Amino acid sequence: MGMMPLLLFFFFTIPFLGIPASAEQQESKNLIQKEMIALDGALKVTVDAIVLNEPERIVPAFQEANRIREQVEHTIKSGAKIVLPKNQKRFKEFVRLDNKFHRDLELLLKAAGKNNMGVVQRQTHRLLDACVRCHRIFRK
Ligand code: HEC
Repeated sequence: MGMMPLLLFFFFTIPFLGIPASAEQQESKNLIQKEMIALDGALKVTVDAIVLNEPERIVPAFQEANRIREQVEHTIKSGAKIVLPKNQKRFKEFVRLDNKFHRDLELLLKAAGKNNMGVVQRQTHRLLDACVRCHRIFRK
């Protein structure tokens, strides 16, 4: 796919994903929301990295999100509950979407490490679709 459709897609879609919260707002956020704020920043860096052909920016951009992700996994393993602000009863579905998202993210990071921009671009599309799809169900 050429660059133009990708750009248009992002320009029209990103404004609907939500605006990162200020520092004091973040204190009251739960772990999932913190992971999301980190993902949001990382995805935007990824879009820039694709547009500017700077694949080396992608892996570091996801460091914070990955760190929080480890906390999420730790919480799940310890048997503690992951609180979803909305539709907690559809938690299984959340886990399924989340696992798929993280598999796609891994492929993105691998491709970025190899400067494989074709795969980076494809995976970025997939991730963006996944953000929107999960939010349709689980976002307030
Ligand atoms: C598997 C489900 C899922 C996926 C995938 C997902 N999100 Fe989220 N997202 C959530 C949930 C749950 C919330 C919290 C619901 C709420 O705030 O109402 C949320 C909230 C957010 C917020 C608001 C955080 C806040 O409270 O300030 C942002 C920003 C966000 N997501 C960005 C993203 C981006 C960008 C992606 C894709 C790269 C993404 N999300 C992928 C489930 C998901």
